[in-house]
Amino acid sequence: MGTLYGIGVGPGDPGYVTVRGRQILEDVDVVFYPASKNKPRALSAVLPYIGDKETIALDFPMTGPSDKALETKWKENAGLIKEVLKDRDAAFVVLGDPYLYSTYSYVVEILENFGIGVVTVPGISSVGAIASLLDIPLAQGEEKLVIFPMTGDENELKKVLLENENVVILKVSAGPEILYKVLKDNKAAFDFYMVSDVTAEAQNVSKNPEDLLKKVPYMSTVVLKKKK
Ligand SMILES: C[S@@+](CC[C@H](N)C(=O)[O-])C[C@H]1O[C@@H](n2cnc3c(N)ncnc32)[C@H](O)[C@@H]1O
Repeated sequence: MGTLYGIGVGPGDPGYVTVRGRQILEDVDVVFYPASKNKPRALSAVLPYIGDKETIALDFPMTGPSDKALETKWKENAGLIKEVLKDRDAAFVVLGDPYLYSTYSYVVEILENFGIGVVTVPGISSVGAIASLLDIPLAQGEEKLVIFPMTGDENELKKVLLENENVVILKVSAGPEILYKVLKDNKAAFDFYMVSDVTAEAQNVSKNPEDLLKKVPYMSTVVLKKKK
């Protein structure tokens, strides 16, 4: 039986793939990647390192994790991976870090139920890449740092802003207008940074919360730092 390597490839630029990830990509026979309506970003990030290896797209419908159709799809994908692992090693490439809001973690659970273990290689998360781009610390000393998905509840977000000095908001495009309203009610107690497509050609930085009312790309993250 072959091995599945889950590889975090970083935020998108091939230069952010780790040395460890690159070594494994050079050694495996097959590369799985999450399919996408647009350019598959995780695959694009590793193209310089995989030559003409076989690549297989795994389709993950964009619905909530409790959706039955999604669960069926995860099982189908895990079955496909199991078939390949019968006689080959494979990598599953995912954007950022594999264990931060990634479909990879669900596939791992199913593979483990099949009795198949995995080897996971961490990647540079979009959160770290954004802090470096902005040259701002995510947290210092005794400060707290919370990562909040914008798919969460508005009241929960208000509570998080009351109790923490640093808040990173992922999946901003799921509710930019809600975030705008909460920030407005908060009377600008936080410095606001929104970064879209960090390290990619389309990279954009905004320090103006009003931009939440324009079109917000899916790959957008907001960093909020309590004013000192
Ligand atoms: C499903 S989560 C995946 C996070 C990923 N595993 C990571 O470690 O960065 C997707 C969210 O991560 C953030 N994200 C991922 N890549 C990004 C990028 N290149 N630029 C800005 N935000 C990004 C966005 O908030 C996006 O909605």
